[in-house]
Amino acid sequence: MASKPLQVGVVGAGAMGRGIAQVAASAGHRVVLADAGAGVVAEARRSIERTLSRDVEKQRRTREEADLVLARITDGGEPSGGYEAFRECGLVIEAVVERLDVKQALFTGLEKVVAKDAVLATNTSSLSVAAIAGACAEPGRVIGIHFFNPAPVMPLVEIVPAIVTDAAVAAQVISLIDGWGKTTVRATDTPGFIVNRVARPFYGESLRQLEEGIADVATIDWAMRELGGFRMGPFELMDFIGNDVNYAVTESVFQSMFYDPRYTPALTQRRLVESGLYGRKRERGYYDYREGAAKPEPVKDEVLGRAIMERTLAMLVNEAVDAVHHRIASPADIETAMTRGVNYPRGLLAWGDEIGPATILGRLEALQDEYGEDRYRPSVLLRRRVRERRPLLS
Ligand SMILES: NC(=O)c1ccc[n+]([C@@H]2O[C@H](COP(=O)([O-])OP(=O)(O)OC[C@H]3O[C@@H](n4cnc5c(N)ncnc54)[C@H](O)[C@@H]3O)[C@@H](O)[C@H]2O)c1
Repeated sequence: MASKPLQVGVVGAGAMGRGIAQVAASAGHRVVLADAGAGVVAEARRSIERTLSRDVEKQRRTREEADLVLARITDGGEPSGGYEAFRECGLVIEAVVERLDVKQALFTGLEKVVAKDAVLATNTSSLSVAAIAGACAEPGRVIGIHFFNPAPVMPLVEIVPAIVTDAAVAAQVISLIDGWGKTTVRATDTPGFIVNRVARPFYGESLRQLEEGIADVATIDWAMRELGGFRMGPFELMDFIGNDVNYAVTESVFQSMFYDPRYTPALTQRRLVESGLYGRKRERGYYDYREGAAKPEPVKDEVLGRAIMERTLAMLVNEAVDAVHHRIASPADIETAMTRGVNYPRGLLAWGDEIGPATILGRLEALQDEYGEDRYRPSVLLRRRVRERRPLLS
């Protein structure tokens, strides 16, 4: 990545690729943006232009700056015709379809064209970075750079070196992305990295409570929002993300974690996906978004709401502690990831400390006792911290 000034390639101009291209161009880089779909780059440029114009209206940047950013993004054409357009790129970030074979083929093709010191990065959410790097002749230059959607807005970027990634490449990439004004955290190459792993109970435990008839979707959303302080309730959020996308992440984490029952997907969500009820984009999900549809009212019972919120929160804190235990990231990075990547009202470790690690442990033991399921097993580190009377965030 030594070439100066650094030119950046982005392959895949869908939701993520176009956002990443805008971020890199806003940081002053010339960007080559390519996509296999006909007309996708042109559509991406129009969409970036609209976003930049909104920034100008809101006085976040001048018209001149916006024009410069757009002018820095050039069309790399369809990669099926070869990767020549990326020859001068010191960094190429791929944001193509989430398929290992497609990503491996792309990187092996790019390797033949780019300079020896060029870095190849994947924006994958759920695949193993090692599996992508393993297909390359020079795996040491392959790394995960995981942006969140929409990339120009979300501050968090998870940097994921594979076990074969050169330490110098990881350091270079962290310093580059920090320089783009993003907040980087470093995650080990494990399923879901930080955010998509630690956040699983937010959805999974809410779905369990729904399936057991403890409360309906509106009540669970109300409890998590009003009593938990989360910006959106779990069902609103799943409808917003798309049940197809959210279910695929859960299933992928479940399979990649060797079917650990903590991550078991819910049949309710699977049936929604099978029925095409993806959420907002299909106007139906847990809620009905069609015109004239009635909005269900929550049961604002504070005792019930607290029980719902405390159960889910205990599972979330346990997941964060377990991520520390398995060295997925540093405690500080786990706190940053959850507050800046998914806007949690506070870091889960600090939250657990405030509630009290022994209280969290007690809640999990009660659930495990009642259900007899391994799903509720407390993390070894949580037990240890309670025994040693040490805080979770230390
Ligand atoms: N959408 C999200 O919230 C999100 C967040 C973080 C990471 N990701 C990851 O980013 C990647 C892209 O996701 P997305 O949501 O932007 O998908 P998308 O479907 O919006 O865009 C993918 C684009 O890649 C193109 N494409 C497919 N194969 C290609 C190839 N071989 N060469 C060039 N272009 C190709 C498609 O034409 C499409 O335009 C995936 O790996 C996904 O897991 C997605």
